[in-house]
Amino acid sequence: MAIPHRQLFIDGKWREPVKKKRIPVVNPATEESIGDIPAATEEDVDIAVDSARRALARNKGKDWASASGAHRAKYLRAIAAKITELKSELAKLEAIDCGKPLEEAAWDMDDVAGCFEYYADIAEGLDAKQKAPVSLPMETFKSHVLKEPIGVVGLITPWNYPLLMATWKVAPALAAGCAAILKPSELASVTCLELAEVCREVGLPPGVLNILTGLGPEAGAPLASHPHVDKIAFTGSTTTGSKIMMAAAQIVKPVTLELGGKSPILVFEDVDLDKAAEWIMFGCFWTNGQICSATSRLVVQESIATELLDRLAKWCKSIKISDPLEEGCRLGPVVSAGQYEKIMELISTARNEGATILCGGVRPQHLKKGYFVEPTIISDVTTSMQIWREEVFGPVLCVKTFSTEDEAIALANDTHYGLAAAVISKDLERCERMTKALEAGIVWVNCSQPCFCQAPWGGKKRSGFGRELGEWGLDNYLSVKQVTQYVSDEPWGWYPRPKL
Ligand code: NAI
Ligand code: MG
Repeated sequence: MAIPHRQLFIDGKWREPVKKKRIPVVNPATEESIGDIPAATEEDVDIAVDSARRALARNKGKDWASASGAHRAKYLRAIAAKITELKSELAKLEAIDCGKPLEEAAWDMDDVAGCFEYYADIAEGLDAKQKAPVSLPMETFKSHVLKEPIGVVGLITPWNYPLLMATWKVAPALAAGCAAILKPSELASVTCLELAEVCREVGLPPGVLNILTGLGPEAGAPLASHPHVDKIAFTGSTTTGSKIMMAAAQIVKPVTLELGGKSPILVFEDVDLDKAAEWIMFGCFWTNGQICSATSRLVVQESIATELLDRLAKWCKSIKISDPLEEGCRLGPVVSAGQYEKIMELISTARNEGATILCGGVRPQHLKKGYFVEPTIISDVTTSMQIWREEVFGPVLCVKTFSTEDEAIALANDTHYGLAAAVISKDLERCERMTKALEAGIVWVNCSQPCFCQAPWGGKKRSGFGRELGEWGLDNYLSVKQVTQYVSDEPWGWYPRPKL
């Protein structure tokens, strides 16, 4: 299966990159070339920013920003319908581009359509909320707040949920009335280019959404530092997030950052072991372990550790690892040769430092090609080991044990990250105590990873700041304007009137 041949999507049209460069696309399950994608550079970014600014030009009166929310909602709904229509085709493209099992990719497409629908509802509701009164202590003044689109936004996204992470930004940005430039990851841009085709087909006005594929330093960096881009929303690694923040800081451009994680999952001795084991597996191995919120540090009560780890190891050996297109696949390859090498290197360092590889840590024997890593569980780790501290972004779970709640919390919070955390226990009061003590933007109780577009998503510490999804996600793309009017007939009276 090959990918469609596409160009950059600028001003509502396909456009060849100025430098005519392209990036090869490799199927991570087969290591075969399946086509290529265009590589934008600074020149293309300039053209796209001009187009986005024109889409917001106010003199026409019918521009995207000043149109009603209901008007914008119609396009969001049309995009959702088209995504649903193309679901199986898009899911296949996602699977061969980033390696996620086809069933997961199909689930992503439902979430993509659901997210566009959700922000269509929000956009419709916006018109009534546009002008919110502010009560003042002086009757001589009346005040209200206008929430206005922030302007042209740059959206830079990663490869683990290529179309879904793009949608988490595109849908609220468009609902708010912004014009956007989306720069997906060079490792998985194929479905984002199909989103461009969807926008073309539904007749989205030119410039409202431009999609520029390309390399981070060549296409992402000029977007982050562009003087006419009013805001950057980024999801990806902490290192790149920090670079983007520095670039944006030069011109005091606001950013929201959804960065890496090394999230803990606390498991107490009162649990049902099989239920706990399944959530631990899902929390760490779903999407082939490439999830920013993966609960990749298992913090388990000593008394059940041996039995739980035994079950987990058996479970790991029983799941189907295969080409993502095969039915029943539960673990596909990681996204690229580079990621495969990085993961194997981290595992080998842990082994050399004295950690025990309980299962996995190798390529599955039955697969000779592709960037596959068996689900891996590592015990006997110390809190100073790289494998315990750094985001692996692969199917690797590290384990430490505790005996008291205080020890559990200390282990959980001993990290620079703060995206998510999970707690598994039948004692709901204990869950509540843990929830309050965990330093994270998201806490799952008796589960790990479920995500709903109604609920806020984002982290603390080096996992970034700002919240996506829900009403919070919309606020990322709105700017608050205070309007205060003097309503009294009396003169203000501060300066004595001069004698005329
Ligand atoms: P990355 O963070 O560099 O890439 C994310 C996005 O940023 C891509 O679209 C990329 O093109 C863009 N980018 C890269 N450099 C840029 C720059 N200087 N200015 C503007 N945009 C730039 O992630 P990468 O290199 O693909 O993966 C490396 C590691 O990052 C992974 O091993 C994983 O640990 C972590 N990662 C974390 C993610 C998360 O959601 N927490 C997502 C992707 C990667
Ligand atoms: Mg790819």
